[in-house]
Amino acid sequence: MELAICSQQQFSRVLGDAIIDALQQEGTVCLASGDTPQRAYQYVAAEYQRRRFPLRATLVGLDEWVGLGQQDEGSCQYAMHHDLYQHLALRPGQLQQFDATHTGEALEHECHRINQLLAERPLRLTLLGIGQNGHLGLNEPGSAFNSLAHISNLSETTIRVAQKYFPTATRLHQGITLGIGNILASEHIIIAASGAHKRNIVQRLLFTPPNENFPATSLKQHANTILLLDDAVFNVESIL
Ligand code: PGA
Repeated sequence: MELAICSQQQFSRVLGDAIIDALQQEGTVCLASGDTPQRAYQYVAAEYQRRRFPLRATLVGLDEWVGLGQQDEGSCQYAMHHDLYQHLALRPGQLQQFDATHTGEALEHECHRINQLLAERPLRLTLLGIGQNGHLGLNEPGSAFNSLAHISNLSETTIRVAQKYFPTATRLHQGITLGIGNILASEHIIIAASGAHKRNIVQRLLFTPPNENFPATSLKQHANTILLLDDAVFNVESIL
């Protein structure tokens, strides 16, 4: 895992430029929702409006809260559409996302559908945030490093922290997510963290060997991962 540190001012632009580069190339790109990349997406959308760069990539959604869809404010898909996708001229089928409004077998089928898609069109770039409990997407602590897309039971921490995305208190219990195995098959991975509230979890990530109780440590086994931090997360005095 390679470490890249930039100022808080540069962070969204550095991330945004990496996304623009990936969107212009053939291959599959997976972009996480969340507060961390939000300004980068707004920057990508503004750059697209300004210079209409070509969109050759296929996009795949990382995860969603079970029971919620794109119309639900606070959902992953709502945020991605609001900040990025609605501003891009995407072709039909260019964006593939879990339909988390299904139940039972139909929901299981969504995992199968996305696994099939990734088998046919492997991930070129995956952009991730890191949860306060070390989760990746909705792969909670305990997720197998070889897991494929699946339905996960959410941890207490995830349910509590995720309330920040919603206008009113929202009952969450499960997620549907790419598995760590899908993520590790990505050619490039960027895991990004910004802000002083991410210092502790990033410090733990840096000093913890790979183990399934800490999903983000799986990325230490990946040959081409960049951990992108801003200087509120990482400075020598805060981290050592
Ligand atoms: P955040 O979420 O970007 O909103 O901090 C990160 C995550 O939970 O993976």
